[in-house]
Amino acid sequence: MKPRVVVVGSFIQDLAFYAEAFPRPGETVFGDFRPGPGGKGFNQAAAAHRTGVPTLFLGAVGRDAFGAGARKYAQSEGLHTTFIEKKRESTGSAVLCINAAGQNHIIVSPGANLALQPRDVPPGPLRAAEVVVCQCESDCRTIAHVLRTARLAGAVTVLNPAPLRPDFPPALLRHTEVVIPNENEFTALVRLVPATAALLRTAAFRAVGDLGANGLAGLQADLLHRLCRALGVPVVIVTLGDQGCFISQPDACTHIHAHDVDALDTSGAGDAFVGGFAAGLVRFKRNVIEAAHYASAVAALAVTRPGTATAMPTAREITRFLKKRDHQ
Ligand code: RIB
Repeated sequence: MKPRVVVVGSFIQDLAFYAEAFPRPGETVFGDFRPGPGGKGFNQAAAAHRTGVPTLFLGAVGRDAFGAGARKYAQSEGLHTTFIEKKRESTGSAVLCINAAGQNHIIVSPGANLALQPRDVPPGPLRAAEVVVCQCESDCRTIAHVLRTARLAGAVTVLNPAPLRPDFPPALLRHTEVVIPNENEFTALVRLVPATAALLRTAAFRAVGDLGANGLAGLQADLLHRLCRALGVPVVIVTLGDQGCFISQPDACTHIHAHDVDALDTSGAGDAFVGGFAAGLVRFKRNVIEAAHYASAVAALAVTRPGTATAMPTAREITRFLKKRDHQ
């Protein structure tokens, strides 16, 4: 089946620890250990795939047990993948700490992911896809190559700038049609991009105070929309955790509320949203608002379960969830 969503990015072996509270510096606490497949790219591909939209994941792993595990898991899921095996690097790995409130701390060692080269990514699937998704656990030159190739071919290019690295090249936004940062990534991004950094120095924004310290809560929708517009990307979606998401399009902006659920593990919630959104764009013929509503349901279900890639809901679960919410 021809993949309609192509995700190029990271596979990471997650080593997740669940504890009552995060350990303080110098403290040792007991917790439960649950390893599982992860990485922002792989999680996003898993989310899109489980909705039933034909999806391809392309990424790099090492010649090691974690890399073999990645292939085995993808096969068991029926997810199409192209894993480029790197001889010198190990498969990426991460330590995740999740507390009783479902909050997380993550340290990532990207390993082979940063060795994925533009030449490793064949143009064929990018040109044939409807939606192409990248994140920032890969080499920025590879991300630029993928987004440029896909956009020239007419695919919708989605960039999740996570994690927002200090060396993030604003030029990546030129090839991006939809950018999906979370609140922290957005505040860092607008300081990095010259046009938004200049806007932040104007009187209207100076009056708001430090965005980093105050977050986006104190920012009126019209100011947030102006900031999003100055990024120069057609669609900007800022995910706001349990506060939902803010969507800025060229002619309008809107806020979508999050579903009220009992969060057990928020790691991978952003990935669930991005993967669900990519699948939603295919399902709803590129309608951004409908796709974001769909993504919000995917993320709501994912946080009620432990794990990242393994926590993504199926199409049937999403439909049942949305039906139930409609009747409430
Ligand atoms: O977004 C969650 C993901 O971030 C985890 O799966 C971990 O691997 C890191 O990449």
